[in-house]
Formats: sequence, C-alpha cells, structure tokens
Amino acid sequence: MGEGAVRTAQSVGRLTGRRAVITGAARGIGAEIARTFHREGADLVLLDLADDEVAALAATLGAGSLCVDLADAAATAGAVEQAIVTLGGIDILVNNAGILNMAPLLELTVENWDLTFDINVRAMFVTTQIASRSMIAQRQGTIINMASMGGKIGSPNQAHYAASKAAVISLTRVSAMELGPHNITVNCICPGYVLTEMGAATRTPELVRTWSAKSPLGRLAETTDVANMALFLASDDASYCTGQAMNVSGGMVMH
Ligand SMILES: NC(=O)c1ccc[n+]([C@@H]2O[C@H](COP(=O)([O-])OP(=O)(O)OC[C@H]3O[C@@H](n4cnc5c(N)ncnc54)[C@H](O)[C@@H]3O)[C@@H](O)[C@H]2O)c1
Repeated sequence: MGEGAVRTAQSVGRLTGRRAVITGAARGIGAEIARTFHREGADLVLLDLADDEVAALAATLGAGSLCVDLADAAATAGAVEQAIVTLGGIDILVNNAGILNMAPLLELTVENWDLTFDINVRAMFVTTQIASRSMIAQRQGTIINMASMGGKIGSPNQAHYAASKAAVISLTRVSAMELGPHNITVNCICPGYVLTEMGAATRTPELVRTWSAKSPLGRLAETTDVANMALFLASDDASYCTGQAMNVSGGMVMH
C-alpha cells in the first residue's frame, strides 16, 4: 500500500495484506475490481494501455500502475515481472483486460481476429505463466480470468470475441488442473451485458430493452455485480473453488 492511501469506512479487510495485479484496470470492470480490492485491504498494481487514466486511478487508491500494451507479449511479461517486484510478490492475478471490435463473420479480418486473441487470450497466458511461478514458490495464490457469457453461448458479430472467451474458459480449466497441486486456484468470470464503454457505441435504448428482457432479473449488469464475484473468488471464501466459469449474467446463461 502506497503512502497516503485511504481506506473507506465500509472496508472489511477481506483481502488485507494480499498483493494483487489487475489488467485493464483504467476503467470499466477492471477499475471497479481495483476499487473493491482496495476497499478490502489489498495492495495493488494496475496495468493498462491508457496511461493517464490508470495512473490517475492508481493515485486515488495509493496503488502502483504500469502502462503496457497487452498485444505485445514481451512488454506484457516485463510489466508483470515489474509489478511483482513492486509488490514484493503476488497473491492475486486478475486478467481482466479484453477488447471487442464487432464484425460480421463474412467481414471479419485476420488482423481483427489476431488482435482479439493476442489481447484476450495470449496476454492472459503470458501473465499467468509469470505470476504462477511466484505463486508456486510461496505455495499459494489465486488467478481470476475475465471470460464472457459470449464464451458459452456466442453472439452474432462476435465470432472472434466468443471464440477468444471460450479459449479463456479452457485456459482457466487447464491452469486449474496444473496449478492446483501447488495450492493455486484458477477461475474465470462470465459476465452478461455490463454497462461499460465496451459496446457503448452500439447501445441504443432499444438494445438495452432487448438485452434486459433476456435476464429473469430484467436488467443489465453493473460493474459492481462483476467486481463482487471477483472479490468472492479472490477471498478465502472461495478456497475450494477452482476451474470454474462463474456466470454473472442475471440468469441469461444458466450453465
Ligand atoms: N462490458 C461487457 O458487457 C462485458 C461482458 C462480458 C465480458 N466482458 C469482459 O470484461 C473485461 C473488461 O471489460 P469492460 O467492459 O470493462 O471493458 P472496457 O472497454 O470498459 O475496459 C477495458 C480496459 O482494458 C484496457 N485495454 C484494452 N486493450 C488493452 C491493451 N492492448 N493493453 C492494455 N490494456 C488494454 C482498456 O484501456 C480499458 O481500461 C473484458 O475482458 C471484457 O471482454 C465485458
């Protein structure tokens, strides 16, 4: 925890003393996870491409921050190594960053496909490999990957995105199998439609109504809905939970 960090009155310290690295933390779901983990006492290093934004959030949380393009595997590896040195180790890795550049299958370019997989999946593999080496040495740790309900059910114009999120679910399962013997848990979260900048460009009132109607709860997700699941998975409450793809979709997906 950096100098000048302020705990909020609601802090209950479920992550006190835990060292966490969060990717894609400048805004949206990642920023909400950062605020939640900070409230619960974690020491944080936030990674994002949006340099000024992530530095500004980190400053309010007394956290560290690093600007990195997760499409660059070598830079990603370097950033995670640096974050682990800054924190003096790592207990929680949240692989949250992801992109969605919608395109119909017949117009989808190889460049869009590759960039989506580089950021949504390959970066996650790189950070997991590096973080888990540290976690193995201390015989404990937890990794949380951001998948999507798209990885389970797909959606038109998202062939590349849905395939990348299905890959995240598979990577999560195999990571859980291989890292479990080292007392490391690995889970992913499958959010439904979350109200963030992702998808904002196409979010008409009609679209919000249509998607809300798909949920038995009749609404879309807030970032806090997803951050609360991340908190559960990062906490001791989830110590016997690994290899899972947890839906936070308001019941849009039930498997
Ligand atoms: N919003 C949704 O409806 C929704 C639904 C299911 C899953 N998700 C997943 O949740 C995660 C977060 O999504 P969000 O809605 O908060 O998105 P967002 O676009 O609001 O935020 C994404 C963050 O990732 C960062 N980022 C993007 N590309 C990067 C790169 N190359 N290197 C470093 N950082 C990069 C962005 O700067 C941003 O801070 C993603 O993995 C997304 O796929 C979102």
